[in-house]
Amino acid sequence: MTFILAIDQGTTSSRAILFDANMKRAGTAQHEFTQHFPQEGWVEHDAEEIWDSVLRVCREAMETTGVTPDQIAGIGITNQRETTVIWDRATGAPIHNAIVWQDRRTADICARYKQAGCEDDVTHQTGLLLDPYFSGTKVKWLLDNVPGARDRADAGELMFGTIDSFLIWRLTEGRSHATDATNAARTLLFDIHKGDWSAEICDLLDVPMSMLPTVHDCASDFGTTTLLGGDIPILGVAGDQQAATIGQACFHAGMMKSTYGTGCFALLNTGDKPVESKNRLLTTIAYQLDGQRTYALEGSIFIAGAAVQWLRDALQIIDNAAESGELAEKADANQHVVMVPAFTGLGAPYWNPECRGAIFGLTRNSGRAEIANATLESIAFQTRDLWHAMQGDWDDNAEVILRVDGGMSASDWAMQGLADLLGAPVDRPMMQETTALGAAWLAGMRAGVYPDQQGFSETWALDQRFEPVLSADERDAAYTRWQRAVSAAMAF
Ligand code: G3P
Repeated sequence: MTFILAIDQGTTSSRAILFDANMKRAGTAQHEFTQHFPQEGWVEHDAEEIWDSVLRVCREAMETTGVTPDQIAGIGITNQRETTVIWDRATGAPIHNAIVWQDRRTADICARYKQAGCEDDVTHQTGLLLDPYFSGTKVKWLLDNVPGARDRADAGELMFGTIDSFLIWRLTEGRSHATDATNAARTLLFDIHKGDWSAEICDLLDVPMSMLPTVHDCASDFGTTTLLGGDIPILGVAGDQQAATIGQACFHAGMMKSTYGTGCFALLNTGDKPVESKNRLLTTIAYQLDGQRTYALEGSIFIAGAAVQWLRDALQIIDNAAESGELAEKADANQHVVMVPAFTGLGAPYWNPECRGAIFGLTRNSGRAEIANATLESIAFQTRDLWHAMQGDWDDNAEVILRVDGGMSASDWAMQGLADLLGAPVDRPMMQETTALGAAWLAGMRAGVYPDQQGFSETWALDQRFEPVLSADERDAAYTRWQRAVSAAMAF
């Protein structure tokens, strides 16, 4: 039997999933790692701890299933995107903790570049905005603030990579400094039209190009690891949201997926045309196969599942995430409590790094249930924000059906609420491990074990379609309350 090993290196945990020759899950291992919050708005990971966790989960998944290295035809890597690591070319040692995508420390740097009128040009080339979310200003911060880093980078001693790139470097013991087009497209340093690093933006952000990895297709030869007990090639790489887009088989223009993890990320496939957003969405690369780039419009929401964690850990009104739906169901339908979960600012389409969370509409009768309900609704309202923005940018009249995945998509109640607040059907697939599956498919297809794009699309199967039942009036009234709450939170 032949297997593919998918590594899913996420924001809060690392996972390894073995898929068999029929793309069925054969075994998995997962470990959480430490989140560091050195200052308000700063979020860091220890790249060594990430590396240890990745090696551990790979070995555990192999041990528990009894799968041997010679049975693994390839590795697919998918990862939290934008998170930035700089390491020493000679020793492989990171010069600082990784700066995580959620980190807002470069808000001032971004504001300065914006004031200098640079945003249009940056957006035009990269499809992104001057927001601290992306890697470019994080690289600049590290080079300017870690003692000696700037000189070492200028001398060619340092390397930059997103997490995929760091893992490839470590897995190949320094033989391969590579990334794929989807991860490169999130750095703010990559020209998505030319498919190459932008010398102009690297110059603007003072990033020496000698630090940058080589950019490959998503299915390619990224190097071979010998660290798992035998030679195993790394054959697939994609950022986690792009891997989910692939895993959901959103291979045609007009297909859209939304993944509910720590944050929520919606991607709409726009085919071979990069669509420049008029509504502050991102233009990004959905995947690159055989040198052909397929583009997407992306809406990124920073807090989705993290808001449910906040109910559990900070407010302590639930014991586990699954309880949030049960509690929310008990909310008084006549109360209109609205929660804006802007704990780390607001992402698309507002892009306001300074905004903070707020709750509106409280009465003496408001309690745990109303707050839980408002929290879950906030995730659906944010999806509707993205949905509207995308429809404004995408003038194709064909109906867009949303495919959902990620932790929260398991809740029927939350998905029905989403369909109601969107006023559109929501499709949940049988296979909800779409991110890992996307990475596995890239590697398996490259290895000749898995079917081609068409064959893979045919394996996508519907678990349940949620149709909207709320009246248009109720839906619009609720959405107006949400928009007023967001405006008030931003004005605070
Ligand atoms: O852009 C950030 C995203 O890739 C993180 O995804 O699933 O690790 O929260 P996740």
